[in-house]
Amino acid sequence: MKQWLKIGLASLLCVGLLTTVAGCGSQPTQSAKEPSKNVLRVASDAAYAPFEWKNDKGEIVGFDIDLIKEVGKEINADIEIVDTPFDGIISSLANKNVDMIISAMTINDKRKQTVDFSNPYFVAVQSIAVKEGSPIKTFAELKDKKVGVQNATTGQDVVEKLMGAKNPKISRFDTTPTALNMLINGDVEAVVADKPVVQYFLKNNPSAKLSLLDDTSFETEEYGIAVQKGNTELQKKVNDALDKMKKNGKIKEISDKYMASK
Ligand code: ARG
Repeated sequence: MKQWLKIGLASLLCVGLLTTVAGCGSQPTQSAKEPSKNVLRVASDAAYAPFEWKNDKGEIVGFDIDLIKEVGKEINADIEIVDTPFDGIISSLANKNVDMIISAMTINDKRKQTVDFSNPYFVAVQSIAVKEGSPIKTFAELKDKKVGVQNATTGQDVVEKLMGAKNPKISRFDTTPTALNMLINGDVEAVVADKPVVQYFLKNNPSAKLSLLDDTSFETEEYGIAVQKGNTELQKKVNDALDKMKKNGKIKEISDKYMASK
C-alpha cells in the first residue's frame, strides 16, 4: 500500500476509535491526572440588573452570576450561563437543556411542581414604579389602571390577583426593562416588579423621572437556584455551597457589590 494511503487509513481509524482508544498517533488525549471539570449549564434571563444583565462588552454579569460562579468553585464545576427568556426558563430546565436556573427566581409552590429549589439566597419584595407626580399611591389603586409586568413573573401573579387574570388593562412584556420603558412612554401607568430591580433602574435612568412606591400588602419573596426535579444530588451540593458562602461572608460581599441601596 502506498505510504500516504496507509497514513490516511490510520488517521481515519484513529478518529473512529478516539473515544475508546487512548494514544492513537500523536493526537492529544485527555490526561487521567487532570480530569476535565464538570460543566454546568445555568439559565438566566440576562435583562434584570443588578441580578443579571449584559454589560457593554456583551458579557453577562451581576449578583446572580457572581453567586453561581462562586457556587461552581465550591462544587468544582465550570459554569456556563445560557441567556434564556424568563417565560421559557422553567421549561428549559425541565427539558434538560440546562442543569440549573439562577434568575432572581422566587421560590413558590407553583414552580415547585416542576423544579426543585435550593435554600433561599436573597429576600426581595415587589414594588410599584410610576411616573414622578403620579396620583397613584397604593397597590390597591392599580385596580383600574393600565399596569405593565414582565411575563411569567411573580409581579404578574400579584397584579393578576388584584385585577383579574383576564383584565385587558394588564400588559405583559418579555423583559422588565421593556415594561419600564413602556411606563416612560406612557403606554402603561405603573409597573410592578421586584424592588431591587426597579431601584437599580431608577438610579441608572434619572432622566426617566420615575418614582418607586412600596406597599405593605406585598409579601416577602425568597430567591432560590432551581435544579431539575429530583436532582437531589446537585441540590445538596448547591445548598452546602450556599451555606458555606453565607457563613464566610461571600454572599454579603456579592450583595454589597451590586445592591443600589448601599
Ligand atoms: N422574582 C420574580 C419571579 O421570580 C422575577 C424574576 C425575574 N427574573 C429575571 N431574570 N427576569 O418571578
